[in-house]
Amino acid sequence: MREARQTASMGDRVLLEVRDLRIGIKGYTAVGGISFSMNEGEILGIVGESGCGKSLSALSIPGLLPEAALVTGGSIRYRDRELTALPERELRKIRGREIAMIFQEPRFSLNPLIRVGKQITETLELHGERDKVLMRDRALALARSLGLPEPEKLLPLYPHQLSGGMCQRVMIAIAMIHGPRLLIADEPTTALDVSIQAQILELLAKINRETGTAILFISHDLSVIQAVCRRVLVMYAGKLVERGPVGEVFTRPAHEYTRGLLGSIPGRSSRGRPLVNIPGRVPPIEEERPPGCPFAPRCAVAVPRCRDSFPPEIAVGPGHWASCFAATGRTGAGTGDGA
Ligand SMILES: Nc1ncnc2c1ncn2[C@@H]1O[C@H](COP(=O)(O)OP(=O)(O)OP(=O)(O)O)[C@@H](O)[C@H]1O
Ligand SMILES: [Mg+2]
Repeated sequence: MREARQTASMGDRVLLEVRDLRIGIKGYTAVGGISFSMNEGEILGIVGESGCGKSLSALSIPGLLPEAALVTGGSIRYRDRELTALPERELRKIRGREIAMIFQEPRFSLNPLIRVGKQITETLELHGERDKVLMRDRALALARSLGLPEPEKLLPLYPHQLSGGMCQRVMIAIAMIHGPRLLIADEPTTALDVSIQAQILELLAKINRETGTAILFISHDLSVIQAVCRRVLVMYAGKLVERGPVGEVFTRPAHEYTRGLLGSIPGRSSRGRPLVNIPGRVPPIEEERPPGCPFAPRCAVAVPRCRDSFPPEIAVGPGHWASCFAATGRTGAGTGDGA
């Protein structure tokens, strides 16, 4: 891992700026214009029910959208570069080295036929490293720093010989091998047991602290977001409905959808049950969406104009914004964070 990049001013430097991002799939709108930014070294969460467009939004950043999907508008600015305009050859250099990803099912991301040590070093080879001894040393050192016990014994094993948690640690090792500035973690703990989840979350927080790697952390689980993120984006049906500091958004939610999500934080005993108790469901992308707020049909406080146009963002607290006609700004709000 690259040494700590944290400096006093680092948290103020913008790493990623997404503006009015639109993603289409087979002619339908999956992401309908979202804007947010991320600072260097920050852990930013994205939360929302299944099908809201969290994964597509994240995948579009390093240019990893599925074949059927396409960025149809907006901009993704990473440091000084516009990623939506970058040719695949250039994107490939950024992927892995600068922006890395980990996913929900580590086992599916690993090749079952290749020893895990080789899969870690292959990433280095892919980027031009040829020295086998150096690569093995790097893999061992990285594995150790990521809490993989007895890496000498572990590296010759195949993925099926490892637990889910260990597989995810290996995936994290692969993602971190070039010391990326941005790690996109799409539901990295959803498939794991609760006790293992906590360890992986702790590991990601440690990586962030020690290397300054920013993390875009996607989860439908609010308690997980609460545990690791400083700021959160709340998505609903391809739109960003609320964003702000986690403490603010979760204690003073301004959007009825966020309130609904919060009302359904699952206790440990309810694991596996649906998370959301808001009546209705996320409309599938194939369903015609009215021009207004996509949540209006499920919303208890909707007024007629909610169905006519999507509400502009208003400041409802320090750095806390909501796209809702029913939300009201509080005194002292309005300066925002510009993010
Ligand atoms: N490869 C694909 N082909 C067709 N439709 C897709 C594809 N990938 C995603 N979609 C659709 O795009 C919408 C957004 O999907 P996305 O995977 O971004 O949601 P998500 O918020 O990540 O959900 P989850 O919490 O289930 O992971 C959904 O309606 C989904 O069905
Ligand atoms: Mg997803």
